[in-house]
Amino acid sequence: MELFEVIEKRRSVRSYEKYDIPKKDIEKILKAGSLAPSGRNIQPYEFIVIDDEKIIKKLGEEVQNCISEASVVIGIIADPQMSKYWLEDISAVTENMLLAIEDLGYASCWIEGTLLPKEKQIKELLKIPEEKRFIIILPIGKAKGEIPKKSKKDIKEITHHNFYSNKYFIADSVKNK
Ligand SMILES: Cc1cc2nc3c(=O)[nH]c(=O)nc-3n(C[C@H](O)[C@H](O)[C@H](O)COP(=O)(O)O)c2cc1C
Repeated sequence: MELFEVIEKRRSVRSYEKYDIPKKDIEKILKAGSLAPSGRNIQPYEFIVIDDEKIIKKLGEEVQNCISEASVVIGIIADPQMSKYWLEDISAVTENMLLAIEDLGYASCWIEGTLLPKEKQIKELLKIPEEKRFIIILPIGKAKGEIPKKSKKDIKEITHHNFYSNKYFIADSVKNK
């Protein structure tokens, strides 16, 4: 797919069909994450690939139901001692991975809000060292059911030109659909 098409098509999907995702696709997703920008290129993160059915089920029970339907879950582990930009860095990693997941024909969702309050116990479950942060996981599977249309702010409503109070003119060809 063309990049802009991937960006437009990506949606948070919370219902998946089990699918035997080839290892080479998982590796492409990891590679996309590893190529993200990071402050001073420190790359203060590691990844964890979870394909054990029992662990996936447990994550579904403990964090968010939809995770249990995923075929594979990728988690992003951050080391805040390595860089003060760790949160921005793992966010860039996450978006790169989400776009790769979309491009490969799978679906996912950035799971953070429901993981945060369970971080300590999930780190224990996955044997992640205490000093690391574990706040983002990506369940991956084939999308099940209909994917609702995006509702996003119109760029003409959120873009200024030179000065804050001046509206930026947006050509019809790129206005939000
Ligand atoms: C920082 C952050 C945390 C999020 N946490 C969750 C979450 O815990 N559970 C969930 O279902 N979706 C979560 N999402 C997904 C958002 O709900 C979703 O991106 C938003 O509704 C916009 O929909 P879209 O991704 O389809 O454009 C999170 C997204 C971000 C960026």
